[in-house]
Amino acid sequence: MRLTDAERAMLEGAEGPAVARAMDLLVRYGEALGAERLVETNNVCGTIGATTPFMRDFAARHGGLDAVFSEFNLDSPEVVKVPRARTFTCHLQQGMDPDHAAAMGLGTEMVQLFRRGEAFAAALGVELANTCTPYQVGNLPRRGEHCAWMESSAVVFCNSVLGARTNTEGRESTGAAMLTGRIPYWGLHIPENRRGTHLVEVEAEPADVADWGLFGYYVGEVVQDRIPVIVGVGAPPDLARLKHFGAAASTSGGIELYHIVGVTPEAPTREAAFGGARPAATLRYGRAERRLAYERVNATARRREIQFVMLGCPHYSLEQLREVCRLLAGRRVHPDVELWIFAPRAIRALAVREGIAKIIEDAGGRLMSDTCSAMSRAIPPGTRAAAFDSVKQAHYLPAIMGIEGWFGTTADCIEAAVRGRFEGDLR
Ligand code: F3S
Repeated sequence: MRLTDAERAMLEGAEGPAVARAMDLLVRYGEALGAERLVETNNVCGTIGATTPFMRDFAARHGGLDAVFSEFNLDSPEVVKVPRARTFTCHLQQGMDPDHAAAMGLGTEMVQLFRRGEAFAAALGVELANTCTPYQVGNLPRRGEHCAWMESSAVVFCNSVLGARTNTEGRESTGAAMLTGRIPYWGLHIPENRRGTHLVEVEAEPADVADWGLFGYYVGEVVQDRIPVIVGVGAPPDLARLKHFGAAASTSGGIELYHIVGVTPEAPTREAAFGGARPAATLRYGRAERRLAYERVNATARRREIQFVMLGCPHYSLEQLREVCRLLAGRRVHPDVELWIFAPRAIRALAVREGIAKIIEDAGGRLMSDTCSAMSRAIPPGTRAAAFDSVKQAHYLPAIMGIEGWFGTTADCIEAAVRGRFEGDLR
């Protein structure tokens, strides 16, 4: 890999041992990928804290959170003192919501560990957004900007909707990027690799947010890790629809970038989206494909009686919280059901001030932040079946926790929370 003079100096220790370790990691990583050089970045989304018992014990045995960062963010066999981040860096979701630790089955020791991890990250200059949707709370890289982001649903939004450039990075590469301001120049950083590969013609136009999730699930399953170009969408989808489409497409497949002709920034026309090339394949999304996606997402669901409803995957916007309030108005969550709704902590703070959180809590639900059930592996005790308005959560959580999972609209899920039974169906 070709390094600039500044990068070589970092590698040789001119900026201290942690930066040297970070540059060493990036060189090894870049060479494994076949990258010829690094590219500068000033927008990193990663994860730093230690909220698992394993990390807690590791920190205790090896000398604190510098040791955790050295091992798990820098792949360094020796413990190095971690300096402040060189780049703008924001923290993605964590492993728990410290304000609802008891509901998540966690004790005060884990909350203390979480707080220590947050203080450590804050001292490095990391923004504690604690969400899988950093773009909802002010992290909006400009079109063409090189980023280093983790979290598949955030990556696909960053590339597709914002037109910024990132591959799906990991804890190690984002840790190294935040100390060096560099990331390997390969994959979706390179303009030619951002061209569409598959044409998707829409016959059954997705309507609500759940429908966009099903559409994404189908496209991801067929296209896998290539780049779909979608035509035939009428009204431009809003933020929630784009968020759920991308999250679903990166769940059933490995989609990191999609183009919607006339909507997303790199697809003003079909020709521009394909960069003048011909599509490798064309697929159609009609009623049969929509039905197939619905059945696949609901593959684990058997029992209509549910004990848990989880909303907010990816983390909810304020508008989605308002919709929940409208649906909950004058009603109460069934006594045998827990309703957990996840949003970024900044949006939760707004929801508290606007009275939205109180409406949810008065109805018997919880407005939570910083994590989700799949990330924290936390569900209410006794859960056998759950309902979700997210394809991604319905895909992962039953497999992770050994429960049954129903997928439906937000209205279906609130109805299930109130009645204790999921009665939704594909309409
Ligand atoms: Fe976010 Fe958890 Fe879903 S981190 S995208 S809410 S699986």
